[in-house]
This record gives sequence, C-alpha cells and structure tokens, in this order.
Amino acid sequence: MKKTILFIAVLSLLFTTKAEAQNSMTLDFNSAKTTINKNIYGQFAEHLGRCIYDGIWVGPNSDIPNVNGYRKDVLEALQQLDIPVLRWPGGCFADTYHWKDGVGPVAERPNIKNVFWGGSIEDNSFGTHEFLNLCEMLGCDAYISANVGSGTVEEMVDWIVYMTSEEDLPMANWRRENGRDKPWDLKFLGIGNESWGCGGDMRPEFYSDLLRQYSLYASLYGQNKFQRVGCGSNGADYNWTDVLMERANRNMDALSVHYYTIASGNWGDKSSATGFNEDLYFKGLNESMRMDDILTKHSVIMDKHDPLKRVPLMVDEWGIWTNVEPGTEPGFLYQQNSMRDALIAAISFNIFHQHADRVAMANIAQTVNVLQAMLLTNDKQIIKTPTYHVFNMYKGHQDATFIPSTLSSEEYTMDDKSFPSITATASINKDGKVHLSLSNLNPHKTIEIAVDLTGGKVQKVNTASVLTAPAFNSFNSFDSPETVKPVEFSDYALSNGQLIVKLPAHSVVTIQVQ
Ligand code: AHR
Repeated sequence: MKKTILFIAVLSLLFTTKAEAQNSMTLDFNSAKTTINKNIYGQFAEHLGRCIYDGIWVGPNSDIPNVNGYRKDVLEALQQLDIPVLRWPGGCFADTYHWKDGVGPVAERPNIKNVFWGGSIEDNSFGTHEFLNLCEMLGCDAYISANVGSGTVEEMVDWIVYMTSEEDLPMANWRRENGRDKPWDLKFLGIGNESWGCGGDMRPEFYSDLLRQYSLYASLYGQNKFQRVGCGSNGADYNWTDVLMERANRNMDALSVHYYTIASGNWGDKSSATGFNEDLYFKGLNESMRMDDILTKHSVIMDKHDPLKRVPLMVDEWGIWTNVEPGTEPGFLYQQNSMRDALIAAISFNIFHQHADRVAMANIAQTVNVLQAMLLTNDKQIIKTPTYHVFNMYKGHQDATFIPSTLSSEEYTMDDKSFPSITATASINKDGKVHLSLSNLNPHKTIEIAVDLTGGKVQKVNTASVLTAPAFNSFNSFDSPETVKPVEFSDYALSNGQLIVKLPAHSVVTIQVQ
C-alpha cells in the first residue's frame, strides 16, 4: 500500500512538473525591431443606432451633462484610452452620407433617413465640424470615409478642400463662414467602405478603377497630406485583395480589411452576447483567432504585389458581432459585452502585434452602444465594458517595439477541438519599459507560466493588473457596472529574470517590468 502511494506521489510530481514546464514564454529581445503602430488601438464610430446620437452627441440643450453637446461622461472615459485614431461616419452609412447636409447652422440642416440602420430619421446635428472637433478633444487623428457608393468625385474633393485647405477657395471660405478658420488635420481618407457590399455591390475589377479615379483627385486636392485607404475585402475574400493589389496598389496608401467574429458561425442567428454556454464561449474565442489566418493570407498576396510593404493593411472594422439585446431595435446593433469580449480583444491585439510589419491600423466596431463597444449608455448612466478595460490595459503597447517570443502552452480542449490556453504578447517602449500581456482562456483553472526575461536584463515589476470575472459570460450592467473591472495583480514572482505568473481562469493580465 505504502509503495503504491509513493508511486502515485512520484507520478503526480512528474506530471505537475511536466504540465508547468509546458507553459513557458521566452522573449527574444535581440529580435525586437518592429513598431506596434499605435493606430492598432483605433476606434470606429458610425451613424448607427445610438453610437453618435445619444452615445457621443446629445446636443448642447440636453439635460445629460455635456460639453458643447458631447456627453461629458463618454468624453472623459474615451480620453483615458489615448485613442490614436477615430473612423467616421461609417460603415455602410458613409456611402449614403452627403457631407454638405451636415455643415452650417444646425436649424437649417436637413433631416436624412438612415437607410441601412433601422430607417431612423437624423437631423444632421452631428456633422463634419462636430466630428473633427471631437478628434481634437480626444487628441486623436481623424479617419474619414468618403462616399463612393452614391457620391461623386466632386463631392469628395469639395469635402477635402473644406476640411484641409488654407487657401482662398469657396469651400475653405464656407468652412470659415461656419466658424472654423484653421483647417483640420485630416490623416486618413477611406475611398468608400465595403464597396463589395453596402458600399455599391461592386466587383473588384470595377472598384479598382473607381479607386484609381477617386484616389487621383483625392491626392491632387488634398496635396498628399493624408493617406488614401482603399476599400479592402470581406474577411477571407482573397481574390478582392489580389485584384486590387494588381490593378491599383500604386493608387492607394493603405488597404483595409474587415473581419467580424460570429461565435455561432451563423449570421442569421449570431447567438446571445451574454446568455451563452461553454460551447459558444469556446467557439467565439476560436472564431476570433481566424484573424491570424486572414491577415497571413492577405499579407502573402500583398507581398506578391508589394514586396517592400509600401501599402499597409488596416483592419478598419473588427470585433464580435452577436444578436442584439432582447427588446432593442435589430437595426441598432446594440449588444452587451462580457468577459468573452475582453478575451477576444486581447486575442486580436496579440494577433495584430504579430503582424505589425504589415498591419498599421485596426478600428474596433464600435465606440459606443454598437457591437463590441467600449461604453454603453442608458439615459444619464454609463458602463465601461470589459473591452474598454482591455484597451486601457493594453495602451502601453502603443508605438512600442514588438518583442518576438516563443510561447509554449497547454491546450484548452472542447470535444474534438483545442487551442492553446494562453495567448500573450510583449513590447518594449522608448524608456526601456517592457509590457507583457498574458491571457488565460481556460475558464476552469488557474494556469502557471514561466516567462524568461533574461535577455532584457529586467530588474523589477513596476505595475501589474488583472481583469477577470465570476464567470466567462459575466458582464457589467447598469445595476452592477463594476462586475468586470481590472484590479491590482500580485500573483507573480520575479527572480533572476524569470517571471512566474499564475493566471486566473478566463483572465487578462498586464505586467510592466523594467
Ligand atoms: O459595423 C457595422 C457594419 O458592419 C458597418 O456599417 C459595415 O461596414 C459592416 O458591414
């Protein structure tokens, strides 16, 4: 009997050592050379449901506290995120938007019907001035999507002159009459949005010609001050990228791509944002990991036509798309946001970092009250979502240098499928501070990982925080707004450049070392 107990003890010791040794990460400081473009932490705000109206803009006469019409609580929460770039006005909305409706005295602006999103009637009180002033208040760059689907070249160049010209020209003078003397600093101009779908239902051959045409005049009238972003493909449509890169890669300064995570894999019934079981938790995470394959395959095609990587890839829409909250307008895309969303954000950032040599921007869909939002509002109340907290925890990676690493992780298995339980990324900033972000996707157990930092001569841990929750589908509600929020983290030990971290089940941890 004693012998059997001893045998089991030795076996379990061996097993534990093996399991722990399985989870390790080694940072290769010597190979750190690619900058993680801060614009990977970009946002997207469309005229859709309650994103702009109600979410960002309530107007100066609202009894919701506001700064010249912008919701004060939303503004303050977004300012904390160091948003680098904000994309507007859509989305599908962009290809129905006629910018001249949205400038000048508010009382004289016409109503428009938002044909793509719930058919709502908008009064155009949020237009070009309101958007570009918002960017200035957030300290971020502006990314405007021009209307190619139902607009004209003339309308686009008028908009460019209105926004960016210092000269004595009718459009620039109209801007001055409307209260803005100095031009704004426009950094990115999208030449249409989803031109293969809501942006005109075009074939890539036809769109390539339009891209060449619109791009030419955009650069002439914009004096090459901004990057022209060609409308990219729908997820895994590699032919779109191939045709565009072959026919028009010299006519754009960047190419976009859109990929949304659908946990159920079924656009007809995407499944609930919070009422999901472990199967859909697993599938949601797994589907979000497809981003890696999509970026890899688009990059291979882009490399073929553009080996010097002049044209960056911009994932200007991404995130999880679920069913809307029960009882809300289906066209408003209002969904809750759970711990699963937080993990999807972490997985996606880790993938973007991995592709930092080609991916120069990503814009999560969307900023407030739509899809995988940072913030949800209800009258005077506001919630910071789990996704918001991940953006906040990851902001140290903005413009830092990506540190390649080797990661070895035990698997998280469901039925006959599995993926690594741990996903991680690391970067070093100009001051020599290393940000390490580690997530445990396994919802059942704490996992220990050994991180080898010896190559970085790391001495100490500066800060550490963890985001986890009672369950993988926990979320912040208006009654309980802080169910999922980051707290200080202390379950680590650093000795001789080896950092041992115990990652709680379904958690995101960020540690800053030096
Ligand atoms: O983000 C919601 C919608 O998703 C956008 O309007 C469109 O570009 C995409 O299909």
